[in-house]
Amino acid sequence: MTQDEMKEAVAQAALQYVVKGSIVGVGTGSTANKFIDALATIKENIKGTVASSEVTAERLKGHGIPVFELNDALTQVNKLSVYIDGADEFDTGKNLTKGGGGALTREKIVAAGSEKFVCIVDESKQVEFLGAFPLPIEVIPMAREVVMAVAKNIGGNAQVREGFTTDNGNIIIDVTGLTIKDARQLEDDLNEVPGVVTNGIFSHQGADIVLMATPEGVVTL
Ligand code: 5RP
Repeated sequence: MTQDEMKEAVAQAALQYVVKGSIVGVGTGSTANKFIDALATIKENIKGTVASSEVTAERLKGHGIPVFELNDALTQVNKLSVYIDGADEFDTGKNLTKGGGGALTREKIVAAGSEKFVCIVDESKQVEFLGAFPLPIEVIPMAREVVMAVAKNIGGNAQVREGFTTDNGNIIIDVTGLTIKDARQLEDDLNEVPGVVTNGIFSHQGADIVLMATPEGVVTL
């Protein structure tokens, strides 16, 4: 089975978590794209979606799937029924690194507005400790050097993602060289730095369920 086929399999498996008649939160990335394509086959069963990025909104609309603003959706319902998205890494505590596609802030917000986060990954994303994948931090541009210095202080190498601006008009700083043993603490510490919008550790908004594709089939964790 190729990685692409595994992404398709896990996206298909995620359809079982789509609640009939509800508004579904939808993530960003190549695995989330497979989920969007699968969702299109049952679009009559849902009321609509909330997208975690402009690119996801465009893909959903391209399939004729209604896309609501999160604030509008949350005036109709208490919470979205489910948020379905990929990840760059996940550990045994279902803490995630996200933001490889740069949509981490909106992803975290939509996840926070959802009852349940179903994370769809292939087995290459499973790690003991987060940190092998560069940790993205969304930063207000004038805080760049302040945040770069903090990243160095915690033992990482920081690099501005070249030529990239988030949907919120900010920059991304990617931090390599970390072995993250306490994901929740680092998530909190980085989010306290002035100018940080959010960082790509999803511990507070970690996955409730991880669906992991393997060559033998999809495993539920
Ligand atoms: C985007 C993300 C994605 O979920 C993450 O990068 C995984 O992407 P892919 O499914 O393409 O491997 O966080 O900001």
